[in-house]
Amino acid sequence: MSQPADQSERRGTEIVDLRTYIAALDRSGQLARVPKEVSLTHELADVAAALARSDGGAGLFENITGTDWPIFTGGVSSHQRAAIALGCEVDDIIDVMEQALEPENGIAPVRIDTADWHQNVVEGDDIDTNFLPIPTHSRGDGGAFITGAVTVAKDPIGGRGNLGYNRMLRLSPNRFGFNVNEWRDVGTFWKSREDPDAPFPIALAIGLDPAIMIAAGVKTPVDELLIAGAIRGRGIEVCRGRTVDIDIPAAAEIVIEGHLHPTVREPEGPLAEFHGYHGEEWNSPTFEVSCISWRDDPIYQSIIPGWYEHIYIGNVLPREPLLRRFVRHLDDTADVHIPPYGNGFLAVIQIDRDNPGTPKNLAMAAMAAHINIRNVIVVDRDVDMYQPSEIQWALTNRVHWDDDVFSVAGAQGHEMDPVASQRGVGTKVGIDATYKRERREYGSRVAYAPINLNDYLS
Ligand SMILES: Cc1cc2nc3c(=O)[nH]c(=O)nc-3n(C[C@H](O)[C@H](O)[C@H](O)COP(=O)(O)O)c2cc1C
Repeated sequence: MSQPADQSERRGTEIVDLRTYIAALDRSGQLARVPKEVSLTHELADVAAALARSDGGAGLFENITGTDWPIFTGGVSSHQRAAIALGCEVDDIIDVMEQALEPENGIAPVRIDTADWHQNVVEGDDIDTNFLPIPTHSRGDGGAFITGAVTVAKDPIGGRGNLGYNRMLRLSPNRFGFNVNEWRDVGTFWKSREDPDAPFPIALAIGLDPAIMIAAGVKTPVDELLIAGAIRGRGIEVCRGRTVDIDIPAAAEIVIEGHLHPTVREPEGPLAEFHGYHGEEWNSPTFEVSCISWRDDPIYQSIIPGWYEHIYIGNVLPREPLLRRFVRHLDDTADVHIPPYGNGFLAVIQIDRDNPGTPKNLAMAAMAAHINIRNVIVVDRDVDMYQPSEIQWALTNRVHWDDDVFSVAGAQGHEMDPVASQRGVGTKVGIDATYKRERREYGSRVAYAPINLNDYLS
């Protein structure tokens, strides 16, 4: 797919790091500054979760007990903020993501010699991560977890870079439990070495341009920095680590370098998971810190686990383009949405209904588009697919439960799906929630014009 001609205008060129993103959110009324003092234990996450739930903007916590460092949360936890992050209109999010995910559109990172995070450095025996403001988020969590860091690694054979997310529980001043599913690229990398058990270098980048955060959530066999470059329309600047030979985003607020110890395992967990429950404890590799660097006046960044941003980055933004491609194979005007409240298991398809059986065909296509998609609801154009109450209205007033629902038992889903078996086998369900004129004639739907209440109340 070719790049649009006006790409440089559309791709948020003013956003080069977290600070410029915060400024862009502020200008758009999408930033909530929190001046009141909050505790790192539970309170910060409670307020950040409430902000996300009420669409109150991204949170910039300016006054946190025991630290001078502010904390930023919820940067990409709504369609409005995803659009600002991607430098586009809300209606163009899937297009921009689709173009950025196209391998031929990738733009390689650019290596530079110095980064602002060289301004402050702690190395060796002095390392004590207790000065970092790492929150204990949810009441069911097993301790203080780094959740908003992007793990940067390098393929020891091919040399390509990789970005991803790994929850990390602080075990001691310079060690963390590092959660990693076996099939993640970082695991494949360390196992591909002659001595797979040897310490493996990685870096954690915290406080980033959201293009890098969004790219890091994509599962792909290429360096995700190419995707971040494609989003921005320019190569992302990177700088070598001080103690590890890895190219790290140069505009990061904070960088933590060190080595994974694949065989030195310790229990870590539980942590609020993407499916909305607390996960179990894992016996995970440990991560030993060799260097911490940060910009002057750094901003720490956290993703509230098991909440909107976690789902947006991991499930919504990287998968909607794929889902749309599958569905548009059958209906080239259909629109799609993976609502964050459905944890990546629910997909909504919006169509101009024609043939009575088409909605069910579309639901089958959606089920096959991604292993996680289990429930599919098809609605008409007069239903706002971004509003949960609208979906409920369609389910209540347009579904005949004997005729409009079908299920596929024994289908493969995600092994962490709470209603599937331990191996992820479960039942996928398609619901045709479109209006069936052939069944019974109704008039048109009641609708009132949108107005600005401030014009009437003040
Ligand atoms: C907020 C967030 C937290 C995540 N935490 C973990 C984790 O703890 N362990 C893990 O293996 N994957 C985790 N993931 C999933 C992956 O790291 C991520 O989606 C990434 O794309 C992995 O792709 P890769 O195998 O290409 O590196 C998380 C994803 C997100 C968005």
